[in-house]
Amino acid sequence: MTTFEYAPALESRSIVTIKPEYGHFINGAFVDGVDHFATINPANEEILSRIALGNAEDIDRAVDAARVAYEATWSKMPGKERGKYLYRIARIMQERAREFAVLESLDNGKPIRESRDIDIPLAGAHFFYHAGWADKLDYAGLGHAPRPHGVAGQIIPWNFPLLMLAWKIAPALAAGNTVVLKPAETTPLTALLFAQVCQQAELPAGVVNIVTGDGRTGSALVDHPGVDKIAFTGSTDVGKAIARAIAPTKKKATLELGGKGANIVFDDAPIDETVEGIVNGIFFNQGHVCCAGSRLLLQENIAEEVLAKLKVRMAKIRVGDPLDKNTDLGAINSAAQLGKIRELATSGDSEGAQRWSPACSLPKNGFWFAPTIFTGVTQAHRIAREEIFGPVLSVLTFRTPAEAIEKANNTPYGLSAGVWSEKGSRILWATQQLKAGVIWANTFNKFDPASPFGGYKESGWGREGGRHGLTAYLKSAEAQQ
Ligand code: NAI
Ligand code: MG
Repeated sequence: MTTFEYAPALESRSIVTIKPEYGHFINGAFVDGVDHFATINPANEEILSRIALGNAEDIDRAVDAARVAYEATWSKMPGKERGKYLYRIARIMQERAREFAVLESLDNGKPIRESRDIDIPLAGAHFFYHAGWADKLDYAGLGHAPRPHGVAGQIIPWNFPLLMLAWKIAPALAAGNTVVLKPAETTPLTALLFAQVCQQAELPAGVVNIVTGDGRTGSALVDHPGVDKIAFTGSTDVGKAIARAIAPTKKKATLELGGKGANIVFDDAPIDETVEGIVNGIFFNQGHVCCAGSRLLLQENIAEEVLAKLKVRMAKIRVGDPLDKNTDLGAINSAAQLGKIRELATSGDSEGAQRWSPACSLPKNGFWFAPTIFTGVTQAHRIAREEIFGPVLSVLTFRTPAEAIEKANNTPYGLSAGVWSEKGSRILWATQQLKAGVIWANTFNKFDPASPFGGYKESGWGREGGRHGLTAYLKSAEAQQ
């Protein structure tokens, strides 16, 4: 048999200019930082740039700038005018989409196919969507002339850097808030390019401020008395720490945390489509997805057939250079995340589950993990309970629909779920029983700015996206200051 080989199809990185060092973006200008740390390309460990490590004074200056911009300009500007800025930002993001996509893949390790076709277009779509809201806030459901909170402190993770920035900044600005945003330490570069887009759009100084750094920088932002609202996406542990920190204050918060989504396949599901959905559910973005379908629940009588087809499909997943347009699975974002994935996978072995990966050669440098499934998983195994946040699928089986629901809901999380069945009534029944904020039927990992996203239980507080997400940045005209 002759094997079909792909020729490399490398996206050129010449479109991006990365400076050797970056400062913070405060009050419309880049300012030098005091200390710095490196951000690397996780696919080859090359140092891309040195990034400023924000301290309490940097946060203080950024919050002050955001407060002045809020009082003097942004909260007073008619919604129609704010909307024009958001449209302008959205259009520039589209014009510079290739630059954003290449930079995101370099800094994060995700395949260019995904940054180009998913992350960057969706980020632009969030600005377009919220631009449309800016002059229609009376219809947000909070009565006539709702008001913004003031200064929003926003902390984002590394798995969808620009997209999470868009989820946070677009609704905040549409509602009339100003922001101080802290990107994740491993992926700050697209946020810094976004700062240049704000300059290009002539956004008034101080409306968007970006302070780079690590957990200490994020913590200083959470604790700053000048911040009125916190929006966080990241781990449940840090989410809990933030909830504790703001409990004695009047700060509002939305928290988007972890997940352990169940992808449930009933025996009447269309198997080939389902296999595609399983692959998309867990191997999209290397499994660094809070709403990943990381627990596959198969009805027992079709389990063997689905697993056989899944293995054939998994053998076709191309792992490698994120900038190659043929790549399906890129690099793991950091050495720390790779360590976490390995540790949990090892616990799967030692607790008695069976590990399987297709034969695939992994690059020598950088951080890599082959697409993996574990069968024979029980509810008691750590890999069935804990978020792995990597390309690792835990497979469980069930006999009756009631058992499927019970297993799916048996988790401290409640972010996402998937249901695969040809029967509409079964889908409706299952979706009503599932305790998950987002449920997909006969598809997985579909996102739209108009659709609210968020979780139950330890998956977080509140919703982002759509009208629901917008209201988190508003209060009714009667609400107390
Ligand atoms: P993390 O929660 O530590 O980091 C997320 C963001 O929070 C980063 O910007 C970080 O600098 C900031 N941060 C860290 N400590 C903080 C603090 N005390 N106060 C304020 N901000 C703080 O997540 P990490 O360590 O990168 O990943 C650990 C695990 O968290 C992953 O393995 C995954 O399971 C989960 N995770 C979930 C995400 C989601 O989308 N829900 C995103 C990233 C991680
Ligand atoms: Mg990086």
